[in-house]
Amino acid sequence: MRPLSTKIAAIAPSATIEITEKARKMQAAGMDVISLSIGEPDFPTPEHITDACIDALRRGETHYAPGKGIPALLSAIAEKIEQENNIPCTPDQVMVGCGAKDSIYEACEAVLSPGDEAIILDPSWVSYEPFVQIAGGVPVHHPLNPKNFQVDDTLLEKVTNKTRLVIINTPSNPSGAILNRESLDLVADICHDHDLIAISDEIYEKLTYGKTHLSLGSLPGMAERTITVNGFSKAYAMTGWRLGYAVSSKEIIGYMNRVQQHTISHPTTFAMYGGVAALKGPQQCIEDMRSEFEKRRAFVLRSMDDMGLSYAPADGAFYAYVRVNGNDTEVASRWLEEAHVAVTHGTAFNHPGWIRISYAASMERLEEAMKRISSVL
Ligand SMILES: Cc1ncc(COP(=O)(O)O)c(C=O)c1O
Repeated sequence: MRPLSTKIAAIAPSATIEITEKARKMQAAGMDVISLSIGEPDFPTPEHITDACIDALRRGETHYAPGKGIPALLSAIAEKIEQENNIPCTPDQVMVGCGAKDSIYEACEAVLSPGDEAIILDPSWVSYEPFVQIAGGVPVHHPLNPKNFQVDDTLLEKVTNKTRLVIINTPSNPSGAILNRESLDLVADICHDHDLIAISDEIYEKLTYGKTHLSLGSLPGMAERTITVNGFSKAYAMTGWRLGYAVSSKEIIGYMNRVQQHTISHPTTFAMYGGVAALKGPQQCIEDMRSEFEKRRAFVLRSMDDMGLSYAPADGAFYAYVRVNGNDTEVASRWLEEAHVAVTHGTAFNHPGWIRISYAASMERLEEAMKRISSVL
């Protein structure tokens, strides 16, 4: 048989999914593996959200819906984006996708023509590079400042006449860093000067610890050239619902909608009613989960201090991003094989020498994991 797609052959499988699968296999074989490799809140979805979805199912909301999402959800998102993110937004500037992942992918498809370059800031979430490649673009990696994980003016060196897109992520997976105003200003200036579009992935926006999240799209003149992506997975513990969204100019959203019309059509109809309940219902559930993450964060960072390991800012998300001696892939394998603790190696984020530890696990499991890591160190 002739070879399959050369485009897909060039794409690495998702390292985080692979590690988690390996840990699952070890668990299935009877080993007590602690999985700190996955980016998923360990809390159940709040009941009022689940109830709204069940009600929708019982009402018979089981048919096709409008392609960009049900009107009630588009309005709720537009309202949230205006009020919380200070980005002017009307419902026709919103599109709901199957998770933020789907929205970012569609954004890359909508913006990039073959050969266009997309700048990705490292350490970077594992899927940005494949999205750009699948869309026919060329990923151009650029390191964040290693001292503070912020953008500096070296970013300009990566801009060429082929650059079309910059992808930012704040708070960051894996580093937990929150991009400050100076970083966002630098990105905005480069976008204005070189007529670039930015994707701002803000999926961890609600999980911050002492620092304030700021949206790139709220900066002067940036609303029309930013695709702000967010979703329900992390803030409302809704990873399995596959619900996320993008907000941008009508033109960009229109292009993204063409991709969506011919691929997924729209996210699951009854799931979208859960999304409405999430945004319009009580928000205390977010604070309850955030404050629990904050306690775990303090414990894990204290444990890192005790072990003499240094780490990235950890101002947001639910990851401790830790510097290790030697080859990070080998260190992660050793922790899995000898300590039965699954973590993710920095190489997966195009950033060797680091390890990402998710603290989205119970305090009891984290305590046991820290003991085990300490013993193999
Ligand atoms: C930085 C980042 N963006 C996007 C996503 C995707 O989220 P969703 O579940 O909404 O597709 C993740 C999930 O891990 C993430 O870490």
